[in-house]
Amino acid sequence: MASVVTAAVSFPSSSTVPSRTSFSALDRVPFQKVSFQYRDFSISGRGVSIRAQVTTEQPVTKVVKESKKQDEGVVINKFKPKDPYTGRCLLNTKITGDDAPGETWHMVFTTEGEVPYREGQSIGVIPDGIDKNGKPHKLRLYSIASSALGDFGDSKTVSLCVKRLVYTNDNGEVVKGVCSNFLCDLKPGNEVKITGPVGKEMLMPKDPNATIIMLATGTGIAPFRSFLWKIFFEKHEDYKFNGLAWLFLGVPTSSSLLYKEEFEKMKEKSPENFRLDFAVSREQTNEKGEKMYIQTRMAEYAEELWELLKKDNTFVYMCGLKGMEKGIDEIMVPLAAKEGIDWIEYKRQLKKAEQWNVEVY
Ligand SMILES: Cc1cc2nc3c(=O)[nH]c(=O)nc-3n(C[C@H](O)[C@H](O)[C@H](O)COP(=O)(O)OP(=O)(O)OC[C@H]3O[C@@H](n4cnc5c(N)ncnc54)[C@H](O)[C@@H]3O)c2cc1C
Ligand SMILES: NC(=O)c1ccc[n+]([C@@H]2O[C@H](COP(=O)([O-])OP(=O)(O)OC[C@H]3O[C@@H](n4cnc5c(N)ncnc54)[C@H](OP(=O)(O)O)[C@@H]3O)[C@@H](O)[C@H]2O)c1
Repeated sequence: MASVVTAAVSFPSSSTVPSRTSFSALDRVPFQKVSFQYRDFSISGRGVSIRAQVTTEQPVTKVVKESKKQDEGVVINKFKPKDPYTGRCLLNTKITGDDAPGETWHMVFTTEGEVPYREGQSIGVIPDGIDKNGKPHKLRLYSIASSALGDFGDSKTVSLCVKRLVYTNDNGEVVKGVCSNFLCDLKPGNEVKITGPVGKEMLMPKDPNATIIMLATGTGIAPFRSFLWKIFFEKHEDYKFNGLAWLFLGVPTSSSLLYKEEFEKMKEKSPENFRLDFAVSREQTNEKGEKMYIQTRMAEYAEELWELLKKDNTFVYMCGLKGMEKGIDEIMVPLAAKEGIDWIEYKRQLKKAEQWNVEVY
């Protein structure tokens, strides 16, 4: 099965990426359907309906769990640290404004199709050089920011979205993160050692009619750019999205909004299927004057989000800062409690059904 791609890419004008491309790409694995139903569950003496995964077919001794995610044929760790893949940087461009607090770069590496990743996976990068003990640096993980077809649609590249880590330590010295600075300083043609791909947590749902709620802070946007390119910029014979994709992105300033133009193009193209909400923490507040974090923005739609979370084809994905999950729990607890539901238990069930997916750092 060939997949035809029509992608509209927006990079800063200095970039050399073509603005529209059309081509054929890799074969896809067809979906398999899985049945789910509600199971009665009792919390605090009240009968409530909690979702749970139940297989309805063949009452045999060994039940094979079918994943709700697109996980057939997913490749894990093809390249290990001892024998990494060596790709080359094709382009590297700063995607935050000059006045943004910190720099984030979008970079594309060649893979020649040798690193067969899926949307939602990560790769490892081994930076050049040695550590303070004279040993080669250890790998760092980065969420892949391109769809499986890659930014050029030929399945021969992989892209990352990397924040340059710079901080001042307790002695007042400026410290630069090893790998993020190595990556942000790469020039076209430079080599980069890649491991992986890794990760299954953030794979996309199989159901093309699913509601996909994506919660990102900063560079946590990477896997969602990957999802959204597949959903809105590409054509696949075996995956035609007709659900709802809802992205919440939290960043410090409007000059640090990542891939904004791309997302706005998607919204223009598919207004019925895409919702887009930004939370700009240092420029916006809620009506109580509180800082606009991603959970503050989500609270504006709390009831609607809660209703969506009751559907068994709603999938939540969260990526970025570790602290964000606690904030999101804080808005969900009272909503669930209104219906006599313990949010933490409910979330546990969602996780079990692969509907609550978290990759925070
Ligand atoms: C699954 C996964 C996916 C990831 N995806 C991405 C991604 O898509 N994009 C991205 O940019 N990053 C991502 N990361 C983070 C990435 O792996 C690196 O951790 C990050 O780039 C920093 O690495 P570094 O080598 O530059 O810093 P290092 O040289 O490893 O330094 C990091 C260390 O510096 C210290 N440090 C950091 N900040 C401070 C501070 N403010 N004050 C004092 N000490 C501090 C801490 O000890 C920290 O461990 C991901 C991480 C994981 C686990
Ligand atoms: N898969 C992964 O695990 C993965 C993938 C990608 C990135 N990461 C990591 O995720 C982090 C993202 O950093 P970044 O520098 O790219 O982000 P950033 O640009 O600094 O944006 C982070 C945003 O989140 C806000 N924020 C801070 N604390 C929060 C909280 N408790 N709840 C909700 N929002 C909060 C920040 O607000 P203020 O700054 O105004 O307080 C800011 O608006 C990095 O540490 C990166 O390494 C992890």
